[in-house]
Amino acid sequence: MTPFQHLPTPTDASVLVIHGPNLHLLGLREPGVYGTERLVDLDRAIVAYGETLGLRVSIEQHNDEGAIIDALTRAQEQVQLVVLNAGAYTHYSYAVRDAIAAIRLPVIEVHLSNIAAREAFRATSVIAPVCCGSISGFGRDSYLLALNAARRLITG
Ligand code: DQA
Repeated sequence: MTPFQHLPTPTDASVLVIHGPNLHLLGLREPGVYGTERLVDLDRAIVAYGETLGLRVSIEQHNDEGAIIDALTRAQEQVQLVVLNAGAYTHYSYAVRDAIAAIRLPVIEVHLSNIAAREAFRATSVIAPVCCGSISGFGRDSYLLALNAARRLITG
């Protein structure tokens, strides 16, 4: 079975966005790298853009690795696709990687910053091979681009 076989009709299109560790500090945290927009404003933009695409978008933020894994597991019963910014877990969490591989949902990896152009440890993503694609380096637009890709994947 391919990861996309279970996808339902376009009228059902729903996406879960998961923000990982430290993203609750967006706007305050290293603004030179991540910008000055607060998470609440990013989330508003994500939901509004999703509406224009006909997507129902829900959003969660978790600092704990286990909470991200639980959210991925729950997502199978709730949405058709997940957009995941796994934060620093991206670079070393085999547990998050295994959770993505285990669920029957497509997952799009996103990052605000260009992880390939920063410290060497950030250039590795252990989750990329089990995601259906990765978008990195476009700030807020990384999420909006991911929603475009999500719509394509869900509605065909
Ligand atoms: C990040 C990049 C990660 O390396 C970092 O640990 C983050 C944010 C990004 O969105 O650019 O927390 O995922």
